[in-house]
Amino acid sequence: MAKGRILSGNRPTGKLHLGNFAGALANWVKLQDDYECFFMVADWHALTTGYEDTSELKNYTRQMLIDWLSAGLDPERSAIFRQSDVKEHAELHLLLSMITPLGWLERCPTYKEQLQQLSGKSITNYGFLGYPVLMAADILVYKADTVPVGEDQLPHLELAREIARRFNYLYTPVFLEPQAKLSQVPILPGIDGRKMSKSYGNTIALSDPPEKVREKVNAMVTDPQRIRKSDPGHPDVCTVYAYYKGLAPELIDGRRQECEAGKIGCVACKKELANVLLEILGPIHERRHELEAQPGFVESVLEEGAAKARPIAVQTMTEVREAMRI
Ligand code: TRP
Ligand code: SF4
Repeated sequence: MAKGRILSGNRPTGKLHLGNFAGALANWVKLQDDYECFFMVADWHALTTGYEDTSELKNYTRQMLIDWLSAGLDPERSAIFRQSDVKEHAELHLLLSMITPLGWLERCPTYKEQLQQLSGKSITNYGFLGYPVLMAADILVYKADTVPVGEDQLPHLELAREIARRFNYLYTPVFLEPQAKLSQVPILPGIDGRKMSKSYGNTIALSDPPEKVREKVNAMVTDPQRIRKSDPGHPDVCTVYAYYKGLAPELIDGRRQECEAGKIGCVACKKELANVLLEILGPIHERRHELEAQPGFVESVLEEGAAKARPIAVQTMTEVREAMRI
């Protein structure tokens, strides 16, 4: 039986954190066994809100790629590429923009939300409104059937399906309707208990050295009602426990018992969590050091990735032009 095809991507935001790893990246790594995979650095997407300052775009792309590769994305098996290296995405975006009603985009919940949230920034630009059309082009140009994304991206997937349907109806059936595969299952909180986010300064980066990881784990907020070790703890309100849940589920039963019975102190509990994290991060760090010592490696991965992705995009565009009689 033919393998299904996956496409997913991220905007290049620099170094990734443990939340990105637990939420998506670790999942992508596993999907490589069962699917033909395309993983894309969405650098054009980064411009939709970040067009003013592009000075870090290349650096962020490189840093994110090193994290991807260190965590186990495998350029031998998967096409790992940069959006702007495959120009067919832009052509398809243009053509799809012709058949996409403005209302669909204006009604998109992520659009309305971001306009409010980023109200200090001028994002009333055309490219930002068209973000989901570009995303649809990314997916449809490879005829990907499965798209692993976080819940926040579901409205975009729905739009991609609607755009595919409209194209197939207006011209000739060319596109598949891609299905979302929810991948953001265990969400790790930041070390202060809020959502993990670079803008809150509460992340643990995949590239943080061991001392820093220990320091950050020590700073994690725990059960505020617990003062002495003998006080019964409440794991469900504790950030440390949330990490056990997300990254070492085999340990949670024991931890809960010890905590609720006042048999383990938070200091010891944190120390063990730091060990768990360092065990996960150890091989990732090792790989990062290797990659950083190989100049040109990241560039060659991108070149190879684009060389795998491009012929498929080119083929789809031939079908699209034929369908549209262009
Ligand atoms: N919009 C996605 C994000 O911000 C990134 C992205 C761009 C994407 N194109 C995609 C994800 C295609 C999946 C498929 O995370
Ligand atoms: Fe949290 Fe562990 Fe302290 Fe319980 S013992 S409150 S789980 S840090």
